[in-house]
Amino acid sequence: MEASVAARSLIRVAAISGSLRKASYNRGLIRSAIEISKATVEGVQIEYVDISPLPLLNTDLERDGTFPPAVEAFRQKILEADSILFASPEYNYSIAAPLKNAIDWASRPPNVWADKAAAIVSAGGGFGGGRSQYHLRQVGVFLDLHFINKPEFFLNAFQPPAKFDSDGNLIDEQSKLRLKEVLLALQSMTLRLQRK
Ligand SMILES: Cc1cc2nc3c(=O)[nH]c(=O)nc-3n(C[C@H](O)[C@H](O)[C@H](O)COP(=O)(O)O)c2cc1C
Repeated sequence: MEASVAARSLIRVAAISGSLRKASYNRGLIRSAIEISKATVEGVQIEYVDISPLPLLNTDLERDGTFPPAVEAFRQKILEADSILFASPEYNYSIAAPLKNAIDWASRPPNVWADKAAAIVSAGGGFGGGRSQYHLRQVGVFLDLHFINKPEFFLNAFQPPAKFDSDGNLIDEQSKLRLKEVLLALQSMTLRLQRK
């Protein structure tokens, strides 16, 4: 009985990083979130979904409702997820182009983002990527995503002491605690949306 309850309430989170670089801080936030969830957040399973294979959006690539293989695979990952964790770097005060590209592909009919819970984390300059987060929230209105409101997670990656090592791994314990709070809020929102 207990096992089946646990199985039913397990949530699957698709985690996407808008930065494609190897030592990305934003990607590092996702790695850290995966470690935290495995160690301390029962019922949350996070899978990193790589957006680098996606072609640039071009609706000429759609054929009778089908998409290029990389796009089909990405859309399937989103469809199967209960909720989304976005790591959203701020590029010129907005959403990074690779992330917007991925969002747009998965928004093509049928929009596979619809009705999913979501959370955003970011690492960047002065505002820690905050401006990209607010643009992403606006985009989420049309996608029917349901973002947690709080806690917000912005991390200034360049202010000493160092928050990441040279491989982009999060090394700041305070930030890890805040990241855990985001995961708990995402779990709670996801389960609330799924309640019949
Ligand atoms: C094209 C570009 C534009 C950027 N614009 C901003 C910006 O508007 N605000 C900001 O805080 N950082 C900006 N940055 C710096 C990024 O925050 C920084 O490179 C960060 O490390 C990117 O995330 P990543 O480590 O996950 O790749 C920009 C970086 C690039 C490459």
